[in-house]
Amino acid sequence: MTPSVLVARAIYPETLARLREHFVVEANPDDTVYTPAELSARLKGKLGALTTGSERIDAAVLDAHPQLRVVANMAVGYNNLDIAAFDARGVLATNTPDVLTETTADFGFALMMATARRMAESEHYLRAGRWTKWSYDMFAGAEVHGSTLGILGMGRIGQAIARRGALGFGMKVLYHNRSRLPAAQEAPLGAIWVDKATLLRQADHLVLVLPYSAASHHAIGAAELAQMKPTATLTNIARGGIVDDAALAAALRERRIAAAGLDVFEGEPAVHPDLLTVPNVVLTPHIASATHRTRRAMAELAADNLIAALTGGTPPTPVNP
Ligand code: DGY
Repeated sequence: MTPSVLVARAIYPETLARLREHFVVEANPDDTVYTPAELSARLKGKLGALTTGSERIDAAVLDAHPQLRVVANMAVGYNNLDIAAFDARGVLATNTPDVLTETTADFGFALMMATARRMAESEHYLRAGRWTKWSYDMFAGAEVHGSTLGILGMGRIGQAIARRGALGFGMKVLYHNRSRLPAAQEAPLGAIWVDKATLLRQADHLVLVLPYSAASHHAIGAAELAQMKPTATLTNIARGGIVDDAALAAALRERRIAAAGLDVFEGEPAVHPDLLTVPNVVLTPHIASATHRTRRAMAELAADNLIAALTGGTPPTPVNP
C-alpha cells in the first residue's frame, strides 16, 4: 500500500509533486500553522510528516500516532521535535543541515553589520522626512573591520561567520563552544576559544549561533548583558529563547549595549512589545536562510529524507539515526 504522509506547511510545488510520486500526500492547502489539535487530526494514519520549526512534535503527539515512522524537519534546528521522545519510540527525525550554512552566515553577518552601522534606525529617520542636513556624528556607529567578533556556538554556521569576519573584514575572532575546534580549523581564522565570560567582556560584536535547548534557554539575560561593553552589539540568528527579550530591551533602552540585530524571537511570530519601541534594534522575521536557492534546497533535502526513510533507502541527514 502506498504510504500516506503529511506536508504540514506549503512548500515548492515541484517538491510536492516529487513526494506525490511516492506517497499519498495530504498537503496544507493554505499554509496556516496548524494548532496542536489540527496537527494531531492531520497526522491520523500518516507514516511520515514534513514539518518546519513551527510544528511541535512531542511524546503526546507520537503516542497519539504510533504508526508515525519519520518526521522530516525542513530546518537545521530541531528544537520543535522532542528527540528523546523520538528515540524512546524508535521514530526517526531528520533535519536540513549544510544546504543553508553559507546563506545563513551571509545573513548573520549582514544583520551584524546593519546593527553596527545603524542601517534600520537611519533608514526610518530618512523615510520619516527628518533628514535635513549632513552632520559629523549623525548615526555614527561601531566599527566592524578590525574589531573583535565574538561567536557563541561554533558549529557550521558559526565557523562560516568566523570566516567572513576573519578573512573578509580582518576581525579578531573569539568563540565559545562546548567543544574546542581542532587547532587546524582554528589556525586559518586565528580563532581563539575563550570562556563565556571572556567572550561577553571582549566581543565588540557578539553573534549567537548555538542550538536552542533547556541548557541554552536565556543564555543571554540581564547578567550576561551586564558583562558586555556598552559599545557592543548583539546579533541573534539562532533561536529566540536563547535571549531574554525583556532584559535585552531594557539594556538597549538604557544603552547598556549599543544595539542588537534579531532574526528570531521567543514566542515568534509574536515579538516582545518592548523591543518594538526601542530604536537601536534591527528586527527581521526569521529569514536568515531565506534565499530562493537555499529554501528550495531545504525543501528538497527534507523530501529526500522522507522518501528514503519510507522506501527503504538511507536518509541523508538523520538527527537520531
Ligand atoms: C533553521 O533551519 O533552523 C532555520 O532557523 C529555519 O527554521
